[in-house]
Amino acid sequence: MENYNLTEPRYEAMNYRRCGRSGILLSEISLGFWHNFGGAADPEVCRAIVETAFDGGVTCFDLANNYGPPYGSAEEMFGRIFARSLRAHRDEILVTTKAGHDMWPGPYGEWGSRKSLFASIDQSLRRMGLDYVDIFYSHRPDPDTPLEETMQALVDIVRSGRALYAGISKYPPAMASRAYAYLREAHVPCLVYQGRYNLLDRSQEEEILPQAAAEGVGYVAFSPLAQGLLTDRYLGGIPADSRMRHSIFLDESVLTPELLARLRAWNEAAAAEGLTLAQYALRWILRRPEVSSVIVGASSVAQLKDSLKAVRAR
Ligand SMILES: NC(=O)c1ccc[n+]([C@@H]2O[C@H](COP(=O)([O-])OP(=O)(O)OC[C@H]3O[C@@H](n4cnc5c(N)ncnc54)[C@H](OP(=O)(O)O)[C@@H]3O)[C@@H](O)[C@H]2O)c1
Repeated sequence: MENYNLTEPRYEAMNYRRCGRSGILLSEISLGFWHNFGGAADPEVCRAIVETAFDGGVTCFDLANNYGPPYGSAEEMFGRIFARSLRAHRDEILVTTKAGHDMWPGPYGEWGSRKSLFASIDQSLRRMGLDYVDIFYSHRPDPDTPLEETMQALVDIVRSGRALYAGISKYPPAMASRAYAYLREAHVPCLVYQGRYNLLDRSQEEEILPQAAAEGVGYVAFSPLAQGLLTDRYLGGIPADSRMRHSIFLDESVLTPELLARLRAWNEAAAAEGLTLAQYALRWILRRPEVSSVIVGASSVAQLKDSLKAVRAR
């Protein structure tokens, strides 16, 4: 690799888990691009985070058409980093993207129509400079488009070679069940379900996790650190450079005295085990055998390095 020094034995620091009943192994930790990789991000910091992830054994890079802001800019940032640092390693990594949330103006820029999904995957491939993505997700359930249309679009996107596998995200259990059946019958079985699961949100434990396991579908957890709440970030106030200060997706009102008390208790439990709160929160998710990977966000190399230490030594 001519662009940076690979000092670590990359794959020894990471554990890999089988994604459902498939041939694919996922790194226990994936890197997510929802925040921190948009138009205002420092390209050098972004590149350092991605290279640190890759050198730490992370093989899964999770994007979506509208990650930014502005929409599409995280895929463009990834594309530039890929061209410079990862192209020679394309066969060692999984790049995932999604469509379904609002992306471009007009009636075809969101949701789950065949028109929208095909346009979106082609846009994503162009922005990232890729021939194909490894996993293409339906990002959210569409209450108005027939499920069959969305699923057939996923099947045809895979058959066309634009994606190797299909996934779904945030589908309620009944719709997930129909999606799994459709995709299985079409011989493009759903590889993975992506949902929110963390110490503060255990709603997936009752139905989604056991359902995915029974169906042979892998499960990946997003926002495993509850967007930073489950770290030391907010234990002493709200830092000026934090997501809570800069993003509409994490409101200060969530930081109640009750929540702070819970976070401090977990922080003490973590310290008793010699862990940071972030590592404790990630291990808590990885205790579940149904979970194939947790997708962390990171605004610095230091944060990512801290989170990577959640991986248990083999
Ligand atoms: N399918 C979906 O609908 C969906 C929805 C949401 C997310 N996702 C995926 O999941 C990924 C992760 O979501 P997320 O960004 O909410 O994840 P997260 O890991 O819960 O939160 C990431 C934030 O936590 C803080 N942080 C991370 N590691 C830390 C550490 N070790 N110590 C202290 N603070 C730390 C940083 O906050 P600061 O920025 O404040 O420093 C960072 O930006 C996304 O990028 C995306 O790929 C998917």
